[in-house]
Amino acid sequence: MQIPQDLIETATLKLKSVKSEAEFFQLRSQFLGKKSFVISAFSELKTLDINLKVSIAKDLNALKADLTKVFEEAYQTLNTNNQQNQLDVFLPEDPYDLGSEHPITKISNKVIEYFSGLNYQIFSGNEIETDFYNFEALNFPENHPARQMHDTFYLSSHSSTSSDFLLRTHTSNTQIHSMLKEDMPLYMLSPGRVYRCDSDNTHLPMFTQIEGLAVDEDISFGDLKGVIVDFLENFFNEKMEVRFRPSYFPFTEPSAEVDIKFGNKGWLEILGCGMVHPNVLRGCNINIKKFRGFAFGIGIERLAMLYYGVNDIREFYSSNFDFLNQFKP
Ligand code: DAH
Repeated sequence: MQIPQDLIETATLKLKSVKSEAEFFQLRSQFLGKKSFVISAFSELKTLDINLKVSIAKDLNALKADLTKVFEEAYQTLNTNNQQNQLDVFLPEDPYDLGSEHPITKISNKVIEYFSGLNYQIFSGNEIETDFYNFEALNFPENHPARQMHDTFYLSSHSSTSSDFLLRTHTSNTQIHSMLKEDMPLYMLSPGRVYRCDSDNTHLPMFTQIEGLAVDEDISFGDLKGVIVDFLENFFNEKMEVRFRPSYFPFTEPSAEVDIKFGNKGWLEILGCGMVHPNVLRGCNINIKKFRGFAFGIGIERLAMLYYGVNDIREFYSSNFDFLNQFKP
């Protein structure tokens, strides 16, 4: 096994151009995540003979410690620079007891960190959207009954009661934007807020989703299953019982909803997914003889409720200090 000599140098150099926390974590997982050289090298140690194993393990441990330190120091510097420049990319440090990172942000970052480790690029999307990106390009024809599953907030325009603009009902609009903009193959993840006219103890008019999309040659439903199960096991840090239940979304075929078995709560739905419908790919000028894709959409509040054991979704947005203070680091 060859240990590259320039990892520290490369990491230091790349860290210089990092501008946001998401970029920072993306880079960190390239160097220290599951798929990074250092971490995957550890699992290859067992194939070596004992003397070699001991000396290489020692080098690897030293390299890992050095890399960790480089990233810790860079994180500190970024935070300090941020405070000096008053940029909004990082929360300030906490000497004035200003509060803590919101649990929804924490959970989003946890998901982002996992998928960044698989080299998904982070794509940001519009909350104000046109019918085309929210519905039409996603294979919802006009008058399609599935449009009614989305209780859409339409934005009224000056000239008429019907409007060209709406608040997106899901993050799936980013599938279209990213496919029209990027070259294939494409692996993208897009977190953000979505809006539906709905409100009770498990639904809110504004909530958070993370969309994922992978388009490549030879992508199969097996790949989708593999990624989702591995993600959930990583997220909850335990072996999970996961069930793919056939479902329907206009933009995927076949489609599934994914349930996890959660303690004494039984099966709980956690996300929607499927193979990207050929109409959607075709509409984005993608050669469907060559490329296929899978997509998924995760509800972050739902994930946060399970992760933290919160029973009422409204807690997340009630600005109740007793609730929020529980999430201080
Ligand atoms: N957009 C769907 C919703 O909000 C969720 C979803 C389902 C997203 C399947 C996907 C998918 O990408 O493949 O209900």
